[in-house]
Amino acid sequence: MPLALLEPGSDAVTALYLVAVVLFILGVRQGTHPTTAKRGNMIAAVGMAIAVATTLLFDGIGNWGLIIAGIAIGSAVGVIASIRVQMTAMPQMVALYNGVGGGAIALISWSELRHALEIGEALPLDTLIPILFSAVVGSVSFWGSNIAFAKLQDLIPTRPLKVPGQQILNALLLVGIIAACVNLSINNDDPSQAVFIGVLIAAALLGNLVVLPIGGADMPVVISLLNAFTGLAAAAAGFALDNIALIVAGTLVGSSGTLLTLEMATAMNRSVPNILFAGFGGAPAAGAVGGGEERPHRSVGPQDAAIALAYADSVVIVPGYGLAVAQAQHAVKEMADELEKRGVNVNYAIHPVAGRMPGHMNVLLAEADVPYDKLREMDEINPEMPRTDVAVVIGANDVTNPAAKNDPDSPIAGMPIIEVSEARQVVVIKRSLSPGFAGIDNDLFYEENTSMLFSDAKAAAQEIAAEIENL
Ligand code: TAP
Repeated sequence: MPLALLEPGSDAVTALYLVAVVLFILGVRQGTHPTTAKRGNMIAAVGMAIAVATTLLFDGIGNWGLIIAGIAIGSAVGVIASIRVQMTAMPQMVALYNGVGGGAIALISWSELRHALEIGEALPLDTLIPILFSAVVGSVSFWGSNIAFAKLQDLIPTRPLKVPGQQILNALLLVGIIAACVNLSINNDDPSQAVFIGVLIAAALLGNLVVLPIGGADMPVVISLLNAFTGLAAAAAGFALDNIALIVAGTLVGSSGTLLTLEMATAMNRSVPNILFAGFGGAPAAGAVGGGEERPHRSVGPQDAAIALAYADSVVIVPGYGLAVAQAQHAVKEMADELEKRGVNVNYAIHPVAGRMPGHMNVLLAEADVPYDKLREMDEINPEMPRTDVAVVIGANDVTNPAAKNDPDSPIAGMPIIEVSEARQVVVIKRSLSPGFAGIDNDLFYEENTSMLFSDAKAAAQEIAAEIENL
């Protein structure tokens, strides 16, 4: 018995797509807060399942064997990868998924063109233009995301890789792509497949060339931008296929990706063009004054840190990328529990770009059951810093660097920071004086009220918790 039950464009299809779209929007809405984000994901996934199932029930959908094989392989890879992936590797996983989305959209555009050529029908411009847009943007997104993945996974050097004559080459490719698209549009009654393939290849080159010169550490912003591109390409494909669910889903991804990109750039006090074209992130490591000689700093052990913390009234924990690397979230929660048992008021200061992806710290701390009301945003906690007895910086670096405020020549000048220097005492837990992502020395480490505890974040938090318990 044929499974085809639904007629594309029928009221039943529109109604089912409408349900899916409402679920997408509810899912995105719930994703805006850590308490509801998980549920939001599930709701959006149910919406997507409804949209996919509806589409698969279309009349003449095609080869069921291939469809089932595709779903089985995709689901298996997705489930295994999601279970295995470490939190620290999440940005590259998102890059990969985003790239696959862009690639799929580019292939759909190609298959739509081939379909029109096969049946010998002219492609009206309101279909052909979205097809071309999806092909170009989807291809750029696929290749750009792959480079982002390779940089984050250390498969290729993370430093900015510049090709001689880069800008001119990019401009030539762009002009070539536009010219080819104009040619295809003029000849829309019989568009050349060879020219179309040329467009896909040129867009692929452009995707590679645009992302290669960007430093590895800026990749989360690039991924978010490419994610927005994939969304727009999907929305355009939705216009070409006359599919309302694809149009809305693509627009949601496009707009949320754009907003996220802008928010990340603002939190780093950098413009998106600066991130794309400045080749930031390849600065040599600092941490020492000339000749490798270390600047004077005070170093303490876990016992000293435990005493300072246990006898404080208020403690602010400032987590950063190192906490994620060390997977120290549970140990930090245990340390905070020990302090709270003694009546110490503990809060967490969350910088918007701490870690390597948006919401990185919120996700990690939520995993360790840190209550959400303890997670305080930067603007909210900074005014409280002068009344804080001890600020404990755990695996954070750039987001606490006073140079952002005090040194106009610093690469991070103007980036808002967690103002830990304002606290009465600061304990910085990290393994060395090495710099963080920006590759610059942190003046905080050498300030009078700062003590350095050189250790892995997880081991230090465990040792401090044990010391507090024994006090
Ligand atoms: P970073 O400045 O990158 O510093 C992280 C520190 O963690 C390092 O200095 C490292 O010092 C320490 N560390 C590494 N492994 C550790 C371990 N096992 N135990 C203890 N410490 C460890 O981190 P941040 O303060 O979170 O700042 C984030 C940076 O990433 C910012 O510059 C931001 O602009 C950038 N960035 C963020 C995002 C997003 S969306 N979050 C996106 C793009 C760029 P040691 O080696 O001495 O231990």
